[in-house]
Amino acid sequence: MKIFETIDQITRFLSEKRASGERIGFVPTMGALHDGHLSLIRLAKADCDLVVSSIFVNPTQFNNPEDLKNYPRMPESDSQMLAEVGTDVLFSPAVSEMYAEGFGTLQDVDLGGLEKVMEGAHRPGHFKGVVQVVSKLFDIVQPHVAYFGEKDYQQLAVIRRMTEQLGYNIEIVGCPTIRESDGLAMSSRNLRLSAEERKVAVKISEALKYIQTNWKKKSPEQLIAEATQQLESTGILKPEYIEIADAKDLHEVRDSNYSKPMRAFAAVFCGPVRLIDNISIS
Ligand code: PAJ
Repeated sequence: MKIFETIDQITRFLSEKRASGERIGFVPTMGALHDGHLSLIRLAKADCDLVVSSIFVNPTQFNNPEDLKNYPRMPESDSQMLAEVGTDVLFSPAVSEMYAEGFGTLQDVDLGGLEKVMEGAHRPGHFKGVVQVVSKLFDIVQPHVAYFGEKDYQQLAVIRRMTEQLGYNIEIVGCPTIRESDGLAMSSRNLRLSAEERKVAVKISEALKYIQTNWKKKSPEQLIAEATQQLESTGILKPEYIEIADAKDLHEVRDSNYSKPMRAFAAVFCGPVRLIDNISIS
């Protein structure tokens, strides 16, 4: 696996590969890798000649400085995992490399309101930062195809919209959420959970499953209220929101007879750690 830390080095290397006709797949990450990340790399490997991954803890998408400070960083084991799964190129730039010209390189993209609900409403500026860094990474890597997890479903929707709006000729592939054996969605932030918090964290996916199983049997309002109660009754989990929304435009759904694809979403504080998850309903 080749490792590059500067934009100059990686663009030189990749332009040769591109010129020789190789199909380039890209998996951006913030590191602290787990099987969820590796599943994206595996999908990329199956469909591309050259797989590029990046590790960059992007400061501009963290609305909470404590979250940025506490975000797990483990570069050695990360690069070992990436090499083992067959990644060809790792790009791991310093903050000064990515934002050398300051933070003013922000693309003004019309995200059609996708950025205003759920994560957007609770993490001001978050998607602006995601768009900023992913567009910059797209410009550097210029992949043919890029892979994003449904674990961050709203992010995937935002990236699809951004790709369209900025006219990138990049195929965006959404990949299923990988879970622990008890159902907890894998996340780098799970590393920060205490043993007790880890045990109750499973209730988040259970509450979403409850909504999925009981859809149409009870009203959406009632399902949201019951799921909220299930989480709060643990005394450890504090839901920030539980939402049911159209799978495409993310508008809230409060009609049991809604006929288009939908998803249930949750953002929940588990002790000090904020976790998100989502599940399809129909
Ligand atoms: P990060 O949280 O490291 O996630 C990198 C990619 O892995 C994202 O596409 C995310 O959706 C996917 N992923 C995380 N957990 C997953 C799981 N359990 N199953 C499947 N896929 C999973 O998302 C980011 O980084 C950043 O916002 C980034 C896009 C890199 C921009 O900074």
